[in-house]
Amino acid sequence: MLVQAFRSILIFCVASIMWGAVSFPAYARVDPYIRQYLQVSEPVPIAINDRGETRLFSYDNLVEGKKLFELHCASCHVGGATLPNPPVSLSLEALKQATPPRDTVEQLIAFMRHPMSYDGSEDSLLCREVPESWLAQSEVENLAGFILRAAEKAKGWGSTKL
Ligand code: HEC
Repeated sequence: MLVQAFRSILIFCVASIMWGAVSFPAYARVDPYIRQYLQVSEPVPIAINDRGETRLFSYDNLVEGKKLFELHCASCHVGGATLPNPPVSLSLEALKQATPPRDTVEQLIAFMRHPMSYDGSEDSLLCREVPESWLAQSEVENLAGFILRAAEKAKGWGSTKL
């Protein structure tokens, strides 16, 4: 009797998990931050260099960029702020006015490969350097794409009022 009850419960559980695996991947993929706050479902154009060229970044590209940002950058740059040095935030305005400017994908990648102070005069001692042996070109592109899209769209991104 008891064994039968357990067996039915087990079968029910296995069946539920299998049903979930079949019907949920579409929902599991939806990242509400990317969809609602960054307003991305179709690929969006993001500036890649200071010659005005853009490249399309897909929803999946930006989901990967966000994951990398959360893993490696958010401890200091949560919400685009810069906790150890608040005036130098990741807002579009701050990125634009840096020397050299950091408001396109290529320029942001150059910064990540070799972080510098805001006026470009010396190495940044605090920001995390991202060598090629750690994140490949496509990964840093998605990371930069995420930062720029968030800087453009996310409310409250890059606040300096901490
Ligand atoms: C340990 C803290 C820390 C971590 C982790 C960190 N940063 Fe930074 N970052 C800083 C600080 C501090 C500055 C400001 C420059 C300075 O004071 O050296 C900065 C500056 C920057 C800037 C320039 C902002 C501007 O307005 O010019 C960018 C872009 C940036 N970081 C990107 C990143 C990315 C991408 C990551 C993750 C791969 C990252 N940072 C990880 C501390 C950090």
